[in-house]
Parts: sequence; C-alpha cells; structure tokens
Amino acid sequence: MKKKIIAANFKMNKTDEDIKKYFAVFLDLINGLKNKTSYDGLDAELIFAPPFTSLLETHKIIEPYLDFIKLSSQNVYSEKSGAYTGEISIDMIKACGCVYTIIGHSERRNIFKESDELTGKKVEAAYTGGGVTPILCVGENLDIRKQNGQERFVENQLSAALNSIKGRNTSSLIVAYEPVWAIGTGMSIKADDGEAMHGFIYDYLKTGFSIGELRVIYGGSVTEANIEELIGKPHIDGVLVGGASLDPQSFYNIFKLAVK
Ligand code: PGA
Repeated sequence: MKKKIIAANFKMNKTDEDIKKYFAVFLDLINGLKNKTSYDGLDAELIFAPPFTSLLETHKIIEPYLDFIKLSSQNVYSEKSGAYTGEISIDMIKACGCVYTIIGHSERRNIFKESDELTGKKVEAAYTGGGVTPILCVGENLDIRKQNGQERFVENQLSAALNSIKGRNTSSLIVAYEPVWAIGTGMSIKADDGEAMHGFIYDYLKTGFSIGELRVIYGGSVTEANIEELIGKPHIDGVLVGGASLDPQSFYNIFKLAVK
C-alpha cells in the first residue's frame, strides 16, 4: 500500500533556533502516539522541507525517526558543480540527508522566473544523481482555471519537466498539484475538483512513462478544516502544506486527521 504523504514546506521561514523549538513541540506530540510501532503501522510518511540553512540541523533532529520522517530541500540546481554563485547541487542536498527535493514550485517559476526547461533539467539532474526523488510541482493560475484550461496547462508542465524520463524506468516520483490561485490565499480547491485533476495527472502519466511508485499530492491552503475531505479522495495521495505547517501543533493536527 502506498504511504500517504504529509509534507511541510517552510519556505523562507525559521532559523536553526526556530527549528529546534518547533521540533521540541512536534516530536513531543509524535511521541505521544502510543509508541513507535503505532505510527509505523499508519502507512504515512512525514516530509519536512526547511530552508537550506537548516537542512543539517533538521536532519540531526529527525535522525531517530528516519523510517517515518524524511528530509527534502525546497529547491536544487541542475548542474553538478561549478561557477553558479548561490546555487546548491543534488550532491550537496544528499550530503545534508535529503531524500526528496521540491522542484518547480510556483514561487520559483513566478518570482524567480524559472522556466519549464530549467525545471526539466533539475528533474533530470535528480534522477541522474540518484537517491533523491523529485517532488515536482505543477498547477495553473486563476485566469487559466477560469477558462477551464487547467488540464492542458498541467499537461504541458508535466511534459516539459518529465521529458528526460519518458520511456525510461524510474523508481519513484511525487507530483504536487498546486494550483497557484490556492497557494497562501486561504482558497483551497474543492475536493472533487482536486480529485479530477489528480485523476487527470495519473492518466497522463500512464502513457509513455514507467514510474515505479507514483504519488500525486495536493498543495494550496491545506488546513485542519479541509484535510479530511481532500485526503479522502482516491487519487489524492497526500498534501504539501505551507502556511499551516509553520506551527507544530497545527501541522500535527493535520497529520493526525490525515492518518486517522
Ligand atoms: P500554502 O502553501 O499551504 O501556504 O498554501 C503551499 C505550498 O506553496 O506548497
């Protein structure tokens, strides 16, 4: 059975000190679950994506929980090494303990003008480097949604980002469907509309791709109020949570509601 993913994207928030305080509370709550075997049986995986500067500290803290809590970076660069001031490579995030990396987040695409082409190169770099599974973000903006163009738009994003793995065997991939209009706005997608898009993504990836373990997760204003409805849908394999992950109690509540 596929494990549900409950992922936290801290974005540009939290220093190491904040991270220590966060996990002091969060792990206390986790330890409150009867014992370790009780959450082993939950078929869920928690993923944390702190800023680059706190990857090592976070890894140190979650080390006793690595069968269940995994580390992700929020971004990565496509080149292996060299004169790329300010960038971080796949090898570097692996050395910090990352087994996932978010690629193509809409904030990278929109604020930092990262293209479909660069997103595709990053995905290729993750598979070439090995050991790091991409969390590939896709999703339409409000104008596109209003014109009902979301399927075609997401299909184009997937096609560009996954060009390098077409026709190749790939062990795993996470696609995060994150409609831009839902991110940080408090306006989450209706669960049925989410399910429709996730089903569409599954269908699209059935042809021409050979992905061992595919999981399609949803992101965009996920909270305690909507998690149960979203996670109840057959093609919604988990969630990527921004704002509501910043408070340990609220993220724990989301996790508990998702796995109960
Ligand atoms: P949000 O962010 O939960 O604050 O909407 C989600 C994301 O950008 O991954």
